[in-house]
Amino acid sequence: MPTETVYGLAADASNEAAIARVFALKGRPADRPLIVHLGDAEWVGQWARDVPSYAQLWMQAFWPGPLTLVLPKQPGVSGLITGQQETVAVRVPNHPLALTLLQAFGGALVAPSANRYGQISPTSAEAVRHAFGQDAPWVLDGGPCSVGIESTIVACVDDAPEILRLGAISRQDLMAVADVVVHTPQQRSALIAPGQAAVHYAPQTTCRMVSHEALNAWHDQTQPVGVLSFQALDWSPTLHQVLPADPILAAREVYAALRQLDQAGLELILVEQPPQGDDWDAIRDRLQRATV
Ligand code: TXA
Ligand code: MG
Repeated sequence: MPTETVYGLAADASNEAAIARVFALKGRPADRPLIVHLGDAEWVGQWARDVPSYAQLWMQAFWPGPLTLVLPKQPGVSGLITGQQETVAVRVPNHPLALTLLQAFGGALVAPSANRYGQISPTSAEAVRHAFGQDAPWVLDGGPCSVGIESTIVACVDDAPEILRLGAISRQDLMAVADVVVHTPQQRSALIAPGQAAVHYAPQTTCRMVSHEALNAWHDQTQPVGVLSFQALDWSPTLHQVLPADPILAAREVYAALRQLDQAGLELILVEQPPQGDDWDAIRDRLQRATV
């Protein structure tokens, strides 16, 4: 199913056989928990309990939207979803087709990003079909994703909420809505962040992150080289993808650009360091994970 962030591989969150098929199709390890997608914030109580008041404020402010909250789970929530933990991740996606699907179905859907494990998240129906080839599930085409990178994940299990994954909703956005200190991934404890491996979202082609100066001075073109940059260059790589200089627009295009570079038969992909500033944190995070 389409969402505003990336496409999800959706299955009935109340059906363990369906959930098991999601893990099998993705090739995903069982200890990487799934996000439960809801058609309405009112459904939260069926999945989570002890919702802190700051988390309620965030639901009101940001749902439907690219924010996932990790909360203590209801006893009936399958351990297959949660990786046998006592918490569950929930969000209401902001995409008309996803909301129509959820409401017509009348229940929650687990939906990891619709890519094979460890690969780039899909931001179009075409990318989902490409990821799964012959095994492609039924793809609900909702057009290109408007946000383009995965949701912000915040653990909300006590009075010290913590960002587990950066996304379009920033720490500043969260703290502007609720009077609480939000901790960042750098301060993160190893405790409740399974599956946040440093290398993830990785293309098959070797990717290296370089400064603008180093990129402009690159001379070795004995092998086909691709470039993902935020500015023009003095030389012409075999394939050059330029991202917009605005972080919201760049997020929308970054995975499609990486995917095109990855499929071009290059020996090396050079990724320019994103611009300075908090606005670029989520994109910097994804590009750091994609590069060695
Ligand atoms: O934007 C998104 O969140 C997309 C769309 C489809 O909604 N979904 C997505 O799902 O990115 P996935 O499965 O690729 O990533 C889910 C992340 C994983 O890193 C997982 O470890 C984390 O959520 N997660 C899920 N449940 C958790 C929990 N109980 N505690 C900590 N992390 C959790
Ligand atoms: Mg994923």
